[in-house]
Amino acid sequence: KELQALADPLVEWFRKHKRALPWREDPSAYRVWVSEIMLQQTRVEAVRPFYARFMKELPTVEKLAVAEEEKLLKLWEGLGYYNRVRNMQKAARQIMDEFSGEFPRQYDQIRSLSGIGSYTAGAIASFAYGIPKPAVDGNVLRVLSRILASEDDIMKQSTKTKIEYMLEGVIPKEAASDFNQGLIELGALICVPNGMAKCEECPVKHLCRARKLGKVMELPVKTKA
Ligand code: ADE
Repeated sequence: KELQALADPLVEWFRKHKRALPWREDPSAYRVWVSEIMLQQTRVEAVRPFYARFMKELPTVEKLAVAEEEKLLKLWEGLGYYNRVRNMQKAARQIMDEFSGEFPRQYDQIRSLSGIGSYTAGAIASFAYGIPKPAVDGNVLRVLSRILASEDDIMKQSTKTKIEYMLEGVIPKEAASDFNQGLIELGALICVPNGMAKCEECPVKHLCRARKLGKVMELPVKTKA
């Protein structure tokens, strides 16, 4: 596919333009996991103080596994969706019980943990361990829909599955983390929604079919809430 041409310019762009974010320093599996769960519901700038406090209070899987629920809820207060932090504690206990307290290093093991879907598993596997599995969230669905000028509804699981499958064949083995983070960062900074896309600054504008067809504003197709 012509998607192969995406990798080099994307990785190069990411290395030059990436934001300095706390979870990108020393990206252990635990640090990546906590950040990605928080980022599922909250903007980057809002997450920063919650992330710093959480990592200070519960710096390890073990500490999370044995924390009092009251402490967990207090650390999460303001982020909302409390089931996410409850699931995190459940997963931390799974790691203690099933993986001897060591964060698992294989994608399927990571994916088996409570509250960890394909996106979060791919983010942890690639950012922390360099495993070439895709990490497809809403940002990445938007970017790929535009590059491919795909009219597939991004709310459908089948669309996500198809994009995950295509990306599997494109992720550079030596740069899985920067490739995946590059797609997320491109969606966050350049290929943004609501007619605000900064296509002139895009490192892969030359291979974007939506841009060529004048359909950037119309894509992605997204039904229902
Ligand atoms: N949004 C979701 N995951 C992110 C990440 N790792 N960095 C920046 N923004 C994100």
